[in-house]
Amino acid sequence: MLAGKRILLIIGGGIAAFKSLDLIRRLRERGATVTPVLTRAAEEFVTPLSASALSAQKVYRDLFDLTDEAEMGHIELSRAADLVVVAPATADLMAKMAGGHANDLASTLLMATDKRVLIAPAMNVRMWEHPATQRNLATLQGDGILTVGPDEGDMACGEYGPGRMAEPLAIVDAVSAALQDGPLKGKHVLVTSGPTHEPIDPVRYIANRSSGAQGTAIARALSALGAEVSFVTGPADVPPPDGVRVIKVQTAQQMLEAAKAALPADAAVFAAAVADWRMAQASDSKIKKGPDGAPALTFAENPDILATVSQMTKGRPKLVVGFAAETDDVIAHATAKRERKGCDWIIANDVSPETGIMGGTENAVTVISAEGADAWPRMSKDDVARKIAARIAEALS
Ligand code: C5P
Repeated sequence: MLAGKRILLIIGGGIAAFKSLDLIRRLRERGATVTPVLTRAAEEFVTPLSASALSAQKVYRDLFDLTDEAEMGHIELSRAADLVVVAPATADLMAKMAGGHANDLASTLLMATDKRVLIAPAMNVRMWEHPATQRNLATLQGDGILTVGPDEGDMACGEYGPGRMAEPLAIVDAVSAALQDGPLKGKHVLVTSGPTHEPIDPVRYIANRSSGAQGTAIARALSALGAEVSFVTGPADVPPPDGVRVIKVQTAQQMLEAAKAALPADAAVFAAAVADWRMAQASDSKIKKGPDGAPALTFAENPDILATVSQMTKGRPKLVVGFAAETDDVIAHATAKRERKGCDWIIANDVSPETGIMGGTENAVTVISAEGADAWPRMSKDDVARKIAARIAEALS
């Protein structure tokens, strides 16, 4: 499944480095060629000899080696691969990547590469949760770096929480997804997902019950068909899929800016449940209870992201897909919505409480396009996502 693929595997200095030896084995079992690069710190955990024996390749080390440089310069090394994988990606390596440092072989390769980069973070739970690491993660994801894990569990340091490196087989899956040769290879698709949170004051906000499940499934299905996916998500219940470019936002206005910044795209799917209104003026300080009773909240209308992108005169994606969650006259309302917003397809669904669709695992949708309405039977949200992705692939082919 990875036959003929070349992976440059940068092994960072963490206790999880020993799992990277197993990762080499797993990748090779599937036909990939793995060229390991060890950071100086990684050599404290695994030896160049074991990495070389398992990969059957020359191992590149941080020590400046004139022979290495003459045989294969670092620029060439960074580009000879189909994918660069960093496992384990330590807090330090992530910080270097986010800051654009190039002061050792690993960071220089990461700066010089023209290939996609997948990182498998691994570190102590506090280090993972540290605002600096989370800031770096957001920067890296915004730069298009793909991530897998970390997992939650017991850590080598005795603590419990997120920070364990993803298991080698999960990393192999993410590698396969990143190298997928599907019908959407070479296509860039923007997906919005999740709810938005509109602040009332620093502690309160307006939101809705969207879990982000359908948008996440669509992003995953598009990626599985080989698309490069920019996933702009509000604060969803479900985690974003591995292997896509994740841009996290809170508000509708931020979502619009992030969506515009992600263009150009071949297609865009607007699955987010965007709040229709925000506070006309969110308060900078917490609104206090007082003798005057409840405050009156004044709303302002949020921008319509789907309509804005659908009606762009320059740089509009070839295919724009919106959703319509309706409780009555689904087809009629959704057909009118398609006209009003100017998108190509509307995926309409009935979210009446008795359907159990909102927050559930199944969906029953009707796809409305210029050709008319196509009603699909009720199926899992994952299956709906796969069918939508396949239809997008057909439309873009
Ligand atoms: O108008 P309504 O909210 O029903 O439209 C739903 C569709 O429009 C969804 O695809 C949703 O993602 C998109 N939308 C948007 N920006 C808004 C409101 C809705 O992109 N402010």
